Amino acid sequence: MRKNIVAGNWKMNTVLEEGVELASQVNDLLKETPAKCEVVICVPFTHLVSIKGVIDEPLKLGAENCSEHVKGAYTGEVSASMVKSTGASHVILGHSERRQYFGENNEMLLKKTRLALENGLTPIFCVGEVLEERENGTYNEVVKAQVEALFELTPEEFGKIIIAYEPVWAIGTGKTATSDQAQEMHAHIRKVIAQKYGVEIADNTSILYGGSCKPSNAKELFSKTDVDGGLIGGASLEAESFMGIVKAFD
Ligand code: 13P
Repeated sequence: MRKNIVAGNWKMNTVLEEGVELASQVNDLLKETPAKCEVVICVPFTHLVSIKGVIDEPLKLGAENCSEHVKGAYTGEVSASMVKSTGASHVILGHSERRQYFGENNEMLLKKTRLALENGLTPIFCVGEVLEERENGTYNEVVKAQVEALFELTPEEFGKIIIAYEPVWAIGTGKTATSDQAQEMHAHIRKVIAQKYGVEIADNTSILYGGSCKPSNAKELFSKTDVDGGLIGGASLEAESFMGIVKAFD
């Protein structure tokens, strides 16, 4: 059966010293009170190696992106194999901020996903509609098309992916989707996966919710059948609040 997961996405926050301190705090709190879900922190590239040195099991480490190229003359890029070589196990791909500000499209995201999988990284693949699409009622089709971008993967490959549903209008806005809106979309995503890969793979895929998730609303969101945890932005930048969300699974 699928795993419950709470993953932090630090985005472009913390300098190295702050990041190492935050990761150590999360690691310590997790030791004091073991979590009933998998816990991952996804951090800036510059922090991966140092943070790997101060955390241990069961806390897992991820990057926030990787290149769609294998290696070579791509100045400033970081490959999936480089991420893997730091000891990270996860990578966020297709976050709406990358789609919006860095022009990431379906074709690039399929390449990134393939490279992540080839290098033994678990992709946390983000999908989600913008406000206009929520309001004009096209959100189910929009998200379906984003998930379908991965449908060239084999069932075995797709089975290794974590999906994160992040309605763009809820990211960093304080405006959370209601638990019913989240459940409706998560069930829709699971159905789309089932139609392509079958019920077993769909039932085993963890689908996380992201967008203004905090300790005060996490329990309600995670209580829904198809909501298997969260991808947390702002509230992951403070160890206590991040752990408050992790504890929603207790
Ligand atoms: P917030 O939790 O800050 O809304 O961000 C969500 C997000 O984008 C996680 O990837």
